[in-house]
Amino acid sequence: MAIPLPGTPIIVDIGSAYTKIGFAGEPSPRYVFPTITGTEKYKAVMVDVSAKNIYIGNDVVKMRGVLKIKRPIERGAIMDWNDYYEILNYIFYSLLRIKNLSNYPVLYTEPPFLQRETKEYIARVLYETHRVKSLIMVPTPVLALFGVGLTTGLVIESGDGITWIVPIISGQIVDQSVQKLTLAGTDVNQHLKNLLMREGINIESSAVDEIIKEIKEKNCYFVLNPENPPKLNESFSFTMPDGSSIEIPNYIFHEAPEVLFQPSLLGYNILNIPQALINSLQGIDKYYWSDLLSHIMIAGGNLSYSGFEERLKLELSQLIPQLGKIPKPKIVQPSKIQKMESKGKTRKQKDNCPNCGVLVDLSDGKEFCQSCGGRVVLPELSIGSPPIKKKTEIVDGKTICSKCKKPVKDNASVFCPYCGQNFQSTDIPEIPRDIIKQAAPAREFSGFYNSSDEVTRFFVPENFQFAIFNGASILGSLPSFQSLFVTLEEFQRNSDALYKDISEIF
Ligand SMILES: Nc1ncnc2c1ncn2[C@@H]1O[C@H](COP(=O)(O)OP(=O)(O)OP(=O)(O)O)[C@@H](O)[C@H]1O
Ligand SMILES: [Mg+2]
Repeated sequence: MAIPLPGTPIIVDIGSAYTKIGFAGEPSPRYVFPTITGTEKYKAVMVDVSAKNIYIGNDVVKMRGVLKIKRPIERGAIMDWNDYYEILNYIFYSLLRIKNLSNYPVLYTEPPFLQRETKEYIARVLYETHRVKSLIMVPTPVLALFGVGLTTGLVIESGDGITWIVPIISGQIVDQSVQKLTLAGTDVNQHLKNLLMREGINIESSAVDEIIKEIKEKNCYFVLNPENPPKLNESFSFTMPDGSSIEIPNYIFHEAPEVLFQPSLLGYNILNIPQALINSLQGIDKYYWSDLLSHIMIAGGNLSYSGFEERLKLELSQLIPQLGKIPKPKIVQPSKIQKMESKGKTRKQKDNCPNCGVLVDLSDGKEFCQSCGGRVVLPELSIGSPPIKKKTEIVDGKTICSKCKKPVKDNASVFCPYCGQNFQSTDIPEIPRDIIKQAAPAREFSGFYNSSDEVTRFFVPENFQFAIFNGASILGSLPSFQSLFVTLEEFQRNSDALYKDISEIF
């Protein structure tokens, strides 16, 4: 597949279990590989002259029998930096094989609350070792939410290492309400392994973890009532990599992911996903609750199981009453809404140039003075029609410039044609009270929700595991987003540049 044109952002999403790599504007990652490395277990076996010192991703899976396998990222944290560098080398030089990386910006997905030193160190490696053109690092839940077209919502992201419950309002994470659960895909693997062992199924292979993961991803699902699951007698026959087969009792497939709702099955004394969601809401002003509950977004490979959404909905319906009454947002009559409108739409057909005072023809979208070239129409947004204080005086029925005292013929002029005085007050006009009342967050509401069914609404991506990549792909292809990428020079001048508020483009 051809490399996209220079300037197209490369998307790098290195997860604890899988790395997803591709380009902005593309519907799915070009490369997905397990975030694992392998080194030779027995030197003598590697007689092949092309044998490498370290194997990455799918190459490790292929040769798993003879390799010592490592997972350099655990629960979202980089544990082995040398292997992490090898993974970056593999991404840029073995997979993407871009000759001149200095032509390509990188959109790097980061977990929420990534430590400042780690973030800046990763940035340094990308700038200095890989010489990328520019960089932006965006928290994964913001990307996932953006991928379903939302900038406000409650994201449940569960990958391999961590489950995050992240409220986001207008593109900004509500930090104090974020919930982090050390309970995700790897815990389901562990529970599945325990259940198999309890049934006397002991997988003896160096690739046991890979086999367990495969069994899980292909077969596990959620039931609505684990106390009374649908009766399935048959067992399932799974073919092992060596060709042998094992018989797995069917109940194991719904029991294994049950840890996400019952962490105590693994001895964990932590909240489960729906409890953490309620906890998260309790840390936020209740006037946001209905907006968040009606925009619950589910992302991450670990929530791909069929039946998850239905089960979550059921469990939430039992917990939501704990929140008390949930205010409905105020319903504003469309006719009363004062929309943000561009002044350009209702602008004048003629005006005086602020530079030279010449009367300028502004018809047909013209914005510049035909005499001196100065800009006459300044892009500006106004809320409704706030009263504008004008710096003019009325003397004997004539409008007089308050600065040069000369009469101004055109009453609607924004500038004095003689001295260039801007007639519009630079004071921020007072916003009419009814606009304040209607602005979000609505402090007024039109009653309460009676049941959780009324208030909860789920947003589900087409592909859970690629939800973050897909959000990054859309965001990275927006023209307005391009200005947020940070160059090495900008980063060197001030490392705070990496902490840009991306919500400014929403
Ligand atoms: N179809 C599936 N059914 C169940 N689990 C799945 C499925 N596909 C992937 N998973 C599990 O999802 C997890 C990987 O998801 P994802 O790629 O989102 O995580 P990650 O980005 O590697 O990890 P993290 O974001 O936590 O660092 C693994 O535990 C994997 O086994
Ligand atoms: Mg991830």
